[in-house]
Amino acid sequence: MAANKKLLVLPGDGIGPEVMNEVRRVIDWMEHRRRARFDISEGLVGGAAIEAEGAPISDATMEAARTADAVLFGSVGGPKWDKLPFEERPELGILRLRKELGLFANLRPAVVLDPLVEASSLKPDVIRGLDIMIVRESTGGIYFGEPRGIHKNEAGQRVGIDTEVYSEEEIARVARVAFDLARKRRNKVTSTEKANVMQSGRLWRAVVSEVQAAEFPDVQLEHMYADNAAMQLCSRPKQFDVILGSNLFGDLLSDLAAALTGSLGMLPSATLGAVQPGGKRHALYEPIHGSAPDIAGQGIANPSAQILSFAMLLRWSFGMEEDAQMIEQAVERVLAGGMRTADIMQPGMARVGTKVMGESVLRELEKLI
Ligand code: IPM
Ligand code: MG
Repeated sequence: MAANKKLLVLPGDGIGPEVMNEVRRVIDWMEHRRRARFDISEGLVGGAAIEAEGAPISDATMEAARTADAVLFGSVGGPKWDKLPFEERPELGILRLRKELGLFANLRPAVVLDPLVEASSLKPDVIRGLDIMIVRESTGGIYFGEPRGIHKNEAGQRVGIDTEVYSEEEIARVARVAFDLARKRRNKVTSTEKANVMQSGRLWRAVVSEVQAAEFPDVQLEHMYADNAAMQLCSRPKQFDVILGSNLFGDLLSDLAAALTGSLGMLPSATLGAVQPGGKRHALYEPIHGSAPDIAGQGIANPSAQILSFAMLLRWSFGMEEDAQMIEQAVERVLAGGMRTADIMQPGMARVGTKVMGESVLRELEKLI
């Protein structure tokens, strides 16, 4: 029997709790049918935590995250909390988790599954078989740089300030994650920045080149301005294998890449920290989509991205490759069978809600076992 694996589940806001319910059913299934054992605790984050605990994530939940082997995260935010002061917003829950657990490498796959080729706004030929991995730096850059804030200048005008700042170690460690991944894929990294206008971009380009020359000479490296990368993603996306970017550029490019697949509701992500002495590595898994307040509570959200985030968790944190693949196959088979939630609905397909989608995944898992 597999050893206990400590898992912290944070469903969050909006559709988070609904789609997380379907993951809980997959976990139950695994405990019964695969004899896996998980030691699961659940906590609040985002608006839900603000309401019940007075902060977007409590110190107790942070402590639970620190001691967990992996965190499965839903999504945070919604119109209800839009008017809160900046320092109290639900989004700070995920930012604090990333920062304090040192989760510096955010892995965001953009994959077009065969049954969903028609769901993209791009021509099928352009995106069929697309398989990109975006590696986004996620504890530095303009999200955290100082100085930041809104001040008055001498003329009495308000001035907003954010600072893009990167040390060479911050760049090097996330670059290593990208090169490592490329080796297991098609062996190519496209590093994005704005070295033509930004000092931090110049350093980014230099350090990524140094890391490649010293440690990954076998991996192909290409530098591309981030704006050009956005354009190339829309015109010739299949040229990319791994795309590396800062916190901000990675945020933008990953939304763009996800939208290309036509199915934001299908995409998972992983955010990893450094491997610590003893081998443990903090890690958080979350769908790329947000809390989708417009459809929350209606039972129509697509649970696939949350379920696939759990598959990523099994692969990266628990080394359960076979189980991860099984779950991925089950999801793909449900799609191939013609079932669609509203976000990926196509003519001639059967439109189903969150629960039926989850049940269908379980049914396919039963067939695969
Ligand atoms: C993301 C989101 C977050 C980010 C928000 C919710 C703070 O857009 O995970 O991409 O900007 O990092
Ligand atoms: Mg984003």
